[in-house]
Amino acid sequence: MAVEQEPQISIWPDLATLTEAAALHVVELGRRAIAERGQFAWALSGGSTPKPLYELLGSARFAQALDWRSVLFLWSDERCVPPDHTDSNYGMAHNALLSHLPLSAAQVLRMRGEDEPNAAAEAYELQLRAAGPLDLLLLGMGPDGHTASLFPHSPALTETERWVVPNRAPDGSARLTLTFPALNQGAIALFLVAGADKAARVKQALREPSADLPAQRVRPIHGQVEWMLDKQAAGELA
Ligand code: 6PG
Repeated sequence: MAVEQEPQISIWPDLATLTEAAALHVVELGRRAIAERGQFAWALSGGSTPKPLYELLGSARFAQALDWRSVLFLWSDERCVPPDHTDSNYGMAHNALLSHLPLSAAQVLRMRGEDEPNAAAEAYELQLRAAGPLDLLLLGMGPDGHTASLFPHSPALTETERWVVPNRAPDGSARLTLTFPALNQGAIALFLVAGADKAARVKQALREPSADLPAQRVRPIHGQVEWMLDKQAAGELA
């Protein structure tokens, strides 16, 4: 039986030190996975917090830090827009990171936000299941406690079978998202959260189990949850 571990929490002085620490952590996890299994399967998120991390990992300093040809890039969620749209999570990661790395097309499994959402979700589920276990899920948390595109009270929260589903953000925009069954088969779920506007939710997420935030339901069955926070986001933790 899997024994659930307490989340690991680290707090950094500001976004720059958080980003630096996260980059070194991703590299360490990647090296370990590649040494053990020959591949590092990493699911990316959108949002503003990981962008500097992607840019740092895409910089010359990290070019030799990891065997980038052994990394498989996936996504935890996507907006239903074409890849070159400014809202595309793939597009953001491509510009900040992927376009700077020596990758083959087969290493980049993006969600096809431009396709009909149900068909895109089904197609992505097949790719995700074929990819094998995720070594790292890089996640964020919105001010409402959502993670990936799993918004409070949205239908995707109750999905127990499918790994990828269409969902809607509170503003009505269409999304594709991994579900809890998919997120919870990963090894490390790493929440990267920065900014004072997240402080109250971070406190709830980490100290109030009854808050029932979507982010709290990420609990890998055989893995570990980690939170890397800047001082502002951690401001209400006792
Ligand atoms: C997205 C996300 C989403 C994000 C949070 C936090 O596509 O927007 O994957 O879940 O991680 O909303 O976003 P910030 O980093 O911008 O606060």
